[in-house]
Amino acid sequence: MSSKPPSKKPHSPNFSSGPCAKHPGYKLSHLDTKVLGRSHRSKLGKSRLKLAIDMQREILGIPANYHLGIVAGSDTGAVEMALWSLLGPLPVDVLAWEAFGKDWITDITKQLKLKDVRVMEAAYGKLPDLSQVDTDRDVVFTWNGTTSGVKVPNGEWIKSSRKGLTICDATSAVYAMDLPWEKLDVVTYSWQKVLGGEGGHGVLILSPRAVARLESYTPSWPMPKTFRMTKGGKLAADIFEGATINTPSMLAVEDAIDALSWAKIIGGKAEMVKRSNLNLKTLENWVAKTPWIDFLAETKEIRSNTSVCLKFVDKAVSGLSDEAQQDFIKKFTALLEKEEVAYDIAAYRDAPPGIRIWCGATVEHHDIELLLPWLEWAFAQTVQNLAKAA
Ligand SMILES: Cc1ncc(COP(=O)(O)O)c(C=O)c1O
Repeated sequence: MSSKPPSKKPHSPNFSSGPCAKHPGYKLSHLDTKVLGRSHRSKLGKSRLKLAIDMQREILGIPANYHLGIVAGSDTGAVEMALWSLLGPLPVDVLAWEAFGKDWITDITKQLKLKDVRVMEAAYGKLPDLSQVDTDRDVVFTWNGTTSGVKVPNGEWIKSSRKGLTICDATSAVYAMDLPWEKLDVVTYSWQKVLGGEGGHGVLILSPRAVARLESYTPSWPMPKTFRMTKGGKLAADIFEGATINTPSMLAVEDAIDALSWAKIIGGKAEMVKRSNLNLKTLENWVAKTPWIDFLAETKEIRSNTSVCLKFVDKAVSGLSDEAQQDFIKKFTALLEKEEVAYDIAAYRDAPPGIRIWCGATVEHHDIELLLPWLEWAFAQTVQNLAKAA
């Protein structure tokens, strides 16, 4: 392995899994700033919020009878709004196979203190047994586990004639994977992921069955204002037309409109899914011929095409203690950061030691190609330094 660094660098070193790379050609000066400094309740403010809603509905192909609203608190805000507002009347199945799914288990069992709950967990790299899920209960799950790079392969395990609601945290899946809307009653995400937008706001999508639950059930616990979606027992439908519950960042909204305009220009969701799949394919071809690295996801079927998590399988690293592996990865990623070729690619703090390369639509396939020789170079350098230190 050569100690000479590769001659070409990726055009963008932003491979973080959130906030993710801005779309190609992004410029802050391209944002429409007319609304900045104006009330979000002005005619103009409302029209920009409505435009953001309509563009998302169109690009994602949301069914006409579903609602889509912009809420506070990023994806977490949207998920918790759904959990606090909808759970209670039915028993719950909650699934987790990485850090964020585990957060929803904590919410359900320790904060809401629901009693009739089946917790279905799997280790990093695996999925729980989906055939055990009972969709006549309410089901809470993550479509793509961002910190393990494991996704559910499809929605076939969800009954069409279910009695429960399916509540799906899809923040690192939407715009990169095809979601079966008719199988999903609540879908949440934030703009900071595949769209390359800003954090801060969540998007909450509700099916007619979710709305029926909201209108027929009042939870026994207190409901913060930012979670309240009904007025006088009826859905506050204006929230889903752009009358947000509290003040949004109109700069984040304009940034989302810019990202959505880019998405439309390149060919909509189909093209975004294609770009993400091509990025994954580029990594797959490289992993196949590189003996020291492998996917954390155990099978191809459940491998994410957005947050691609990789583990070091060479004995020089995998033979080390967890702490020494973390130290190796710190040095490996610091080298890449110093060279300005890859930022923020260390695995999530609670995940097994490794790296994570975002493959969402805003990442250029050519940049992934240019990154690969750098990964090889940094690996050789870090192993050499390790040997020297021993
Ligand atoms: C699957 C998943 N859920 C929830 C979150 C939290 O998102 P936010 O910080 O937008 O609230 C993340 C963030 O990475 C995530 O990946």
